[in-house]
Amino acid sequence: MNHFLDINKTDPSDLRAILDSAAAMKSARVGLPKGTLDAGAPLKNHMVALIFEKPSTRTRVSFDLGVRQMGGQTIVLSGSEMQLGHGETIADTAQVLSRYVDLIMIRTFEEDVLLELADHATVPVINGLTNRSHPCQIMADIQTFEEHRGPIKGKKVVWCGDGNNVFASFAHAAGQFGFDLTFSGPKTLDPEAVFMDEARAKGVTINVERDPAKAVAGADLVVTDTWVSMHDSQTARERRHNQLRPYQVNGALMANAKPDALFMHCLPAHRNEEATDEVMDGPNSVIFDEAENRLHAQKGILRWCLGV
Ligand code: CP
Ligand code: NVA
Repeated sequence: MNHFLDINKTDPSDLRAILDSAAAMKSARVGLPKGTLDAGAPLKNHMVALIFEKPSTRTRVSFDLGVRQMGGQTIVLSGSEMQLGHGETIADTAQVLSRYVDLIMIRTFEEDVLLELADHATVPVINGLTNRSHPCQIMADIQTFEEHRGPIKGKKVVWCGDGNNVFASFAHAAGQFGFDLTFSGPKTLDPEAVFMDEARAKGVTINVERDPAKAVAGADLVVTDTWVSMHDSQTARERRHNQLRPYQVNGALMANAKPDALFMHCLPAHRNEEATDEVMDGPNSVIFDEAENRLHAQKGILRWCLGV
C-alpha cells in the first residue's frame, strides 16, 4: 500500500519519480484553462476523501482541484462535522471510509491520528499536515527550488524561526534529497532532535546556528514560517513573538545570504512578523510558485499512491 505519510518514509527513488511526474503534468497544462482535464484523466472513476480537522486554503483547494483536473471526484469533510469528532474511533472511521473511497487525505492535529488511520485503512492515506510534519508542502518546495536553481542536492538551506512541523519535513527532505540544512532559532523552540539526527545519519550536514546572520551566510535558500502554528496555544503567542523576533527574515538578513538565494514561506504568512514585505514581495521570493506547485506536486503524490 502506497501511503504518503512522510518524506523520510518514502523511498528517494519514489520521491524523485513523484517530482518528475509533477513536472511533466505541470508543463503539459501550460496555457490551458484551469478547468481543463489532464491528458488521459488518470483519476477517472476515483473518489478521494479530503478530511480537514484544521483550517486550510492551499491544501484544500490544491487537492480538490488536482483530483478534479485528473478526472477524479472529491468529498471534502470537516473533522468536527464527522462522527470522528464526536467519539467514533479512528480505526472504525478508516475502515468505513475505505469501503467508500479510493484514497484518504487528512489534515489533523496529533500524528497518531494519521498513523492509526493509515494502519486501519485499506486505501492509501496522505498526510495533509499534522502537528509534526507537512510533507506535501516540502515536495512542492523541492519542485520549486529545482525549477529555479536546478538540483537541490548539495545546496545549503537555512531555516529561520520556529522548529516546527514544516521544518521537520525539510529535515526529512534533507536526508532523502541530499542537501545541507541549518536551523536558526531560539533554543526553546528547537526542533525534535530525532529529525536532525536521522538526516545526519544519511550523510548530510545539519547545523544549529543561533545567530541568524551567521546562519544564512552562503545560503542558497532561506525559509521561514509563522511564529504561531495552528496547534500552538494562543496563550504562548506573546512569548513566541518575543523569542522569534530576532529571527525575522528581512532585507538586512537576506543581504548575508548568497545574492541569488531564494526565499520561501509555505504561507499563510503574518506579514512583517516572520518576514517583511520587502522579502516576501522581493525578487528572490518564490512564495507563490510554492503555492502553485502544491497542485502539481500533489498530483504526482496522488498518482503514486494510486498507482495510476
Ligand atoms: N501551506 C499550507 O498548507 O497552507 P494551508 O494551511 O492554506 O493549506
Ligand atoms: N506551521 C504551520 C503551517 C501551516 C501551513 C501550522 O502548522 O500552522
